[in-house]
Amino acid sequence: MTDLTKIKASRRDILAATAGAAAASLLSGGLTTAKAQGVEQPAGLPADGKRRLGDLEVSSIGLGCMPMTGTYYGPVSSRDDMIKVIRDAAAAGVTFFDTAEAYGPFTNEELLGDALASVRNEVVIATKFGFVRNAESRQGTRLDSRPEHIRQVVEAMLKRLKTDRIDLLYQHRVDPQVPIEDVAGTVKELIGEGKVLHFGLSEPGPKTIARAHAVQPVAAIQNEYSLLWRGPEAEILPLCEKLGIGFVPWSPVGMGFLAGAFTSEARFDKTDYRAGCPRFSPEALKNNMAMVTLVREWARRKNCTPAQISLAWLLALKPWIVPIPGTTKTAHMAENIKASGVTFASDELEEFNSAIGRIQIVGERGPAGVLAISGVEAPPRT
Ligand SMILES: NC(=O)c1ccc[n+]([C@@H]2O[C@H](COP(=O)([O-])OP(=O)(O)OC[C@H]3O[C@@H](n4cnc5c(N)ncnc54)[C@H](OP(=O)(O)O)[C@@H]3O)[C@@H](O)[C@H]2O)c1
Repeated sequence: MTDLTKIKASRRDILAATAGAAAASLLSGGLTTAKAQGVEQPAGLPADGKRRLGDLEVSSIGLGCMPMTGTYYGPVSSRDDMIKVIRDAAAAGVTFFDTAEAYGPFTNEELLGDALASVRNEVVIATKFGFVRNAESRQGTRLDSRPEHIRQVVEAMLKRLKTDRIDLLYQHRVDPQVPIEDVAGTVKELIGEGKVLHFGLSEPGPKTIARAHAVQPVAAIQNEYSLLWRGPEAEILPLCEKLGIGFVPWSPVGMGFLAGAFTSEARFDKTDYRAGCPRFSPEALKNNMAMVTLVREWARRKNCTPAQISLAWLLALKPWIVPIPGTTKTAHMAENIKASGVTFASDELEEFNSAIGRIQIVGERGPAGVLAISGVEAPPRT
């Protein structure tokens, strides 16, 4: 028995975590269930539920691990519980795990390394460099994508992740001091050395994507994209399509909002990242709840959950889009991956798209300081 087979044997337990009225209604609905396929295992992600980001094959839905070290959306139950959620995801067929040096900082990579060590060869680990954060103050301090810094942090990442290679290495944000050709060239060398397998960029400017891709093919762009923030539709998604680059939406369930995780009365603790997002201010929430109402209506109509509608919409748009919902709970992970069984007929997608187009989301998506370092173009090489 391989390690993955062993943890797959726990699939039944994982799916049992979704037991209850919601799960019962899901399994009786239009989703792809193991029963419907005539196999014994409960449905997680189907074995053929794979997508490609450039040349990299991943499960059609990944797992965002950022909330698991407690620095974004409030405290988590325990480290052991988070390890279990990650292993449960692997057992359910998730092969794509997302972390970053900046999450924690460092502790999120360590968590993922510990959780996945026994199934390392069966999964794809994505991480990101480029922020220099102080482990004590936990504050984002500055950007650094100088080649020597990238090389140094990759060595440290490999140790924390307990691996000899990073499957997908993203630049977390464009460094306005470093030409992207130098960044892509360094990652290309690391690929040549076998320490990195694929290259990605997060929230870059469009010209920077094309320049990077000319030096080292980019497998994936990771930007925020959801029913709550559709910015990438203007330039980035068409560019990805043109260049054959995959797209990984972060915050695909709107930081919990689109899953119906909070109401318009929600008030966030100042340590919660969402407290600094204008779109979640009391006034904006009142307006923006219209999107949750619409998603709830469609969830009822398609006999699934709001989180599943939000994820299924992303999956329906392009076959090279792979959302990475973040969660600290096995039940939510199991619910989210079942979105791969929710499909939109073309007339439904048209109807849904025109309904979301009538809703105006108000309030910026994040704090000004974060927005200022998004969509930035790297300086030219002189
Ligand atoms: N590249 C970047 O700059 C960047 C930025 C942000 C995030 N990311 C990556 O993208 C991943 C996903 O983004 P995200 O975690 O910010 O946001 P998200 O996936 O949109 O939402 C995560 C939040 O939604 C809740 N949630 C998830 N599924 C749920 C469900 N089925 N029902 C109810 N609540 C649910 C989670 O709470 P529970 O824990 O209670 O489930 C968590 O608070 C991150 O984990 C990270 O890996 C990248």
